[in-house]
Amino acid sequence: MPHVFPTTESAARGRSATSASRPGAGDGPPRSALVTGASSGIGAAVARRLAAENWRLVLNGRDETRLAAVTAQVSAQLSARVPGRAHGSAVAFPADLTAPGGGPSLADFVLDRVGPPALLVASAGIGWAGDFATMPREAIEEVVAADLLATLHLVRRMVPPMAEAGTGRIVLIGSVAGSLGVRGEAVYSAAKAGIGAFADALRYELKDAGVGVTHVIPGAVDTPFFDRRGVPYQRSRPRPVSCERVADAVWNAVRRGKDEVYVPGWLRLPTRMRGVAPAMYRRLAARFG
Ligand SMILES: NC(=O)c1ccc[n+]([C@@H]2O[C@H](COP(=O)([O-])OP(=O)(O)OC[C@H]3O[C@@H](n4cnc5c(N)ncnc54)[C@H](OP(=O)(O)O)[C@@H]3O)[C@@H](O)[C@H]2O)c1
Repeated sequence: MPHVFPTTESAARGRSATSASRPGAGDGPPRSALVTGASSGIGAAVARRLAAENWRLVLNGRDETRLAAVTAQVSAQLSARVPGRAHGSAVAFPADLTAPGGGPSLADFVLDRVGPPALLVASAGIGWAGDFATMPREAIEEVVAADLLATLHLVRRMVPPMAEAGTGRIVLIGSVAGSLGVRGEAVYSAAKAGIGAFADALRYELKDAGVGVTHVIPGAVDTPFFDRRGVPYQRSRPRPVSCERVADAVWNAVRRGKDEVYVPGWLRLPTRMRGVAPAMYRRLAARFG
């Protein structure tokens, strides 16, 4: 089967913006995507963005009511597309990805319903803020399970069929907390750093399989994330961006076969500084971070 996605940025640069480098852009049959975390925030915005590009979507979240509402909205968006042309679809599969059987049942459903997806966007995640010294054991386990282990297990189930299909892209939603380490978010930072290292390692492994891996690294995003963790966002910088902006960055990365994307883009600067001048970075971060 031909490689439809550019799997590396250099491969993407070598191609013109034809339909082959713009999969699912409405000029061919709808391609299929699995989006986790689709019942809220970034995942829901990604689902809407993909619907605008005529994808066939399987949407996952835990809350059945919220997930059904997003699925209905996205379905309406899809069926309002150009009459007479094949349009995509959206189906909800509610599951807790940290529960035993949650990820495997989602993976089985996807493979049965649409086959190996051309795109997997892993956005499900939770936050926890406070001093590590007082963090309860269950909270540590919950954050690592939701933000790291659930994604690893789901991707583990999807990689063999995607690699066998010889095409596709896995988009992992990380966090700048994983690149820099954020005060008061020690375990969340560790879990998201794990996602970043996983993205890099997996990309090497899948290089010749036709499956690309994108690590999307947002700063603060205006979603229910902070309310849910019970501690509001209190920093003056980075200012929260909209989840639509993150969804646009995801789509742009898929279209261009990008490996790593910061949202907003300037956030890559502190990461670079930390790499080049770690001692100076730590001094500044301790003072202003
Ligand atoms: N908001 C930010 O500032 C920010 C910044 C950087 C990175 N991120 C990352 O972006 C991703 C999306 O966050 P968001 O801001 O969109 O937050 P959100 O609005 O709270 O959405 C989180 C999503 O993850 C789902 N989810 C959580 N735990 C799950 C589990 N065990 N099984 C299945 N689904 C689960 C939720 O499902 P239910 O709604 O059904 O519970 C919801 O759909 C997360 O990975 C987060 O770490 C967020």
